[in-house]
Amino acid sequence: MNALADMPTSDPTTTVAGHASNASLIDVRDLRKRFGEVEVLRGIDLQIARSEVVCIIGPSGSGKSTLLRCLAALETYDQGDVRIEGELLGYTERNGKRVRASQGEINRVRRNVGMVFQQFNLWPHMTALGNVMEALLRVQHLSRDDARRRANAMLETVGLAHKADAYPAKLSGGQQQRVAIARALAMEPHIMLFDEPTSALDPELVGEVLQVMKQLARDGMTMAVVTHEMGFAAQVADKVVFIDQGRIAVEGKPREVFHDAGQPRLRQFLQNYFDRNAFWTQDAGEAGPA
Ligand SMILES: Nc1ncnc2c1ncn2[C@@H]1O[C@H](COP(=O)(O)OP(=O)(O)OP(=O)(O)O)[C@@H](O)[C@H]1O
Ligand SMILES: [Mg+2]
Repeated sequence: MNALADMPTSDPTTTVAGHASNASLIDVRDLRKRFGEVEVLRGIDLQIARSEVVCIIGPSGSGKSTLLRCLAALETYDQGDVRIEGELLGYTERNGKRVRASQGEINRVRRNVGMVFQQFNLWPHMTALGNVMEALLRVQHLSRDDARRRANAMLETVGLAHKADAYPAKLSGGQQQRVAIARALAMEPHIMLFDEPTSALDPELVGEVLQVMKQLARDGMTMAVVTHEMGFAAQVADKVVFIDQGRIAVEGKPREVFHDAGQPRLRQFLQNYFDRNAFWTQDAGEAGPA
């Protein structure tokens, strides 16, 4: 699992523009986004430092996916700033006015952002190796040999070197998701965004994907993870963010968020979660499955 250690990373004290900056890798200020009449993100402030792991939790429809999609420029935003390594995403300033950036400019600013979705979205007609190589050939224009070498290293990182020649239909959901992670890692991102990467998986396959993510975190990858896996968040997160109705309602270290949850909505959210996941109760002195 050392492939990450070999990845080139840019000097963390400089941005592409050359300005010295020790600022956050991701810096979100007053981010607002509406779909028609509905304001879905209502002033999000979020900073993610290098090598930090931020887990994002919250009820369905609270805006978690929309937030991640804004960070990956898969969604436009209406107001506020999203800065990646100091650079404004999606817009440029022209004559003191903000105008939409060109697609080329957007791609340049988000080039170091990798994303993994709930659905793995692998090409069914390509092998695991082919899926990982695809963007290396088409986007990064690597030679086939270089792309194959890097793709193999990434499959090894996720523990799937032996499945390089397998087609997605012959892989379990957990293996497919690990290929999707390898595919994102192959682009040598500085930050990885995960949107509920394990929620489409059978329960017994969740662990293998979380294991890979834990290893990435240990290797120093900067990560933002939308998840319902509270155990993972408690173990791995440097910071847990609870989003409710388009706002960050609570933010803190896992212990603060999970143990000292004073905020009523958070307490209710966690209570629902623990009720759903309780598998053992103590009833009238008699222990038995719930
Ligand atoms: N493309 C869209 N057009 C219109 N409304 C949208 C669109 N995408 C999301 N929404 C709405 O925005 C709100 C936030 O959605 P989002 O998918 O970000 O929530 P979420 O927190 O990720 O929920 P879940 O836990 O169910 O994945 C929801 O009310 C949703 O219906
Ligand atoms: Mg979502």
